[in-house]
Amino acid sequence: MSIARAHSNIALIKYWGKRHEVLKLPTNGSLSLTLDALYTDTRVSYRADLTQDQLVLNGAPAPEAMRLRVSRFLDLLRQTHGYSAYAEVVSANSFPTGAGLASSASAFAALTLAATAAAGLQLSPRQLSQLARQGSGSACRSIFGGFAEWLPGTADADASSYAEGLKTELPVWMAVLVLNQGHKATGSGDGMARTVATSPLYSVWPATASADLQALKAALAAGDLAAVGELMEHNALAMHATALAARPPVIYWQPETLALIQHVQQLRSAGHACWFTIDAGPNIKVLLPAGAEATLQALRSHPAVQQVFCCSTGPAAHLNPAEPLV
Ligand code: PMV
Repeated sequence: MSIARAHSNIALIKYWGKRHEVLKLPTNGSLSLTLDALYTDTRVSYRADLTQDQLVLNGAPAPEAMRLRVSRFLDLLRQTHGYSAYAEVVSANSFPTGAGLASSASAFAALTLAATAAAGLQLSPRQLSQLARQGSGSACRSIFGGFAEWLPGTADADASSYAEGLKTELPVWMAVLVLNQGHKATGSGDGMARTVATSPLYSVWPATASADLQALKAALAAGDLAAVGELMEHNALAMHATALAARPPVIYWQPETLALIQHVQQLRSAGHACWFTIDAGPNIKVLLPAGAEATLQALRSHPAVQQVFCCSTGPAAHLNPAEPLV
């Protein structure tokens, strides 16, 4: 039996589009920040008496589609490492599910670490990252703490695509603003697949993302938060532009999303250092200097904001977490 904790991550440069659907090999490199306050704890026990994998999520049996996704991922681990027992998987998030917060990154990173450790395997962070990628692409970055870069790799080579932790440290906060929401968004996998297949703007995305990534790494190395923030915003908007031009369109924004974009821009005009990014949903994530309490309060004060998770830089995925949720 093993218990692992992995923290969620938010991309400053987005992964958007696969060149290999099954292996989840991305079209472009991406770069993220791992967050301390949002994490998943997962316990895995292999049991000879089970006839299929079991999944309990936040104290209740998980929906069948989710159980199957986890079971298919466990099949991959069983095939790769040559064992056969089914697993009891018990998982819980430190944040409310259904609030539109990306949990697949922390979930598949925690599952990869717990499931391989429970099988007696001691894998390197790179090997864990490569496996986690096949559960959910962005999960490969949650193996690492701090800033992490996901290398796209070459051709169809599974082993060539994994994340690496960056040495850079920048004292930042990421405020995750949960907005009043309408209907559920298209999932990230479906949204990016439709964008790749139908958006005339997608052809410019790989070069744009690659240029943004190089520039953002240089800005990080220079400790230039304003340049990091500006590049992060630009990259998120470019990603959403490709999605908007898909057929049918992939629109993740709600009216409140645009209201918060403008709120961030107005705060910046008023002298607050803050920059937004948006993933495959309506919520806004804001990068700000660590300790900028006044900016955090100003962000929180907008009437469309239902809940705020203020996050600092989070650690790498690890076994035997303190006060486990499972
Ligand atoms: O790893 P997935 O399939 O949940 O896709 C993540 C996609 C984005 O959140 C929009 C971007 C990213 O790099 O995390």
